[in-house]
Amino acid sequence: MELRVVESYDQLSEKAAEIVAAEVKQNRRAILGLATGSTPEGMYAVLAGYHRDNKIDFSGVTTFNLDEYTGLPREHSQSYYSYMHRHFFDHVNIDPRRIHLPESSPQDMARSCREYEQKIEEAGGIDLQVLGIGVNGHIGFNEPADSLDVYTHLVELAEETIETNSRFFNSREEVPQQAVTMGMGSIMHAAKILLLASGKNKARAIKKTVSGKITTTVPSSLLQMHRNCTVIVDCEAAALL
Ligand code: PGA
Repeated sequence: MELRVVESYDQLSEKAAEIVAAEVKQNRRAILGLATGSTPEGMYAVLAGYHRDNKIDFSGVTTFNLDEYTGLPREHSQSYYSYMHRHFFDHVNIDPRRIHLPESSPQDMARSCREYEQKIEEAGGIDLQVLGIGVNGHIGFNEPADSLDVYTHLVELAEETIETNSRFFNSREEVPQQAVTMGMGSIMHAAKILLLASGKNKARAIKKTVSGKITTTVPSSLLQMHRNCTVIVDCEAAALL
């Protein structure tokens, strides 16, 4: 695990965007695993800026998002489909046919999850997976538990996650209780991983991620076993290191 501590959220966003851009420049057909949440918003804005300035071409890139709420229609402003278009896809020249998110309400959930994994495999696997981290150490929506799923699956969101994410909704009751997420195996199979964390509310999770024991009760701690994982944190998220 390579840890980089930067001064501010803006620097974190710049550094993260540089890493994603380098991946795409080195391989115009790169397969990117993408994350949602507040943390990568700045990174997407910087990448959109690079594209505006003709510094990067996303036309050959394929993307797979980590997760999606179940039960929210795609058009809902808080679906991850909407988020990704608002923050990134609508601002770059990505081919819509190469964009993938887990289906939010498939008729056959098990089949849909299997197909998502299949699509990742057929694309050749993820070259670079971007991750945020929950205050409880979740990555994607792999919540702390006695055991963790390997592949894409349906998950019950932890109370802590529902509480944290309620800031995006009118009320706590509106937050979906379930989501579809890539599993720990799907994430760990990525050739490279880039984990981002900003703010003091992430300090405890970051400490447990980089310097604690590996445990399923802190899913992000499994990243210590990945061969090529870069962690970029701002000073506040690094406060307990
Ligand atoms: P955040 O979410 O970026 O909004 O803090 C991260 C996560 O829950 O994975």
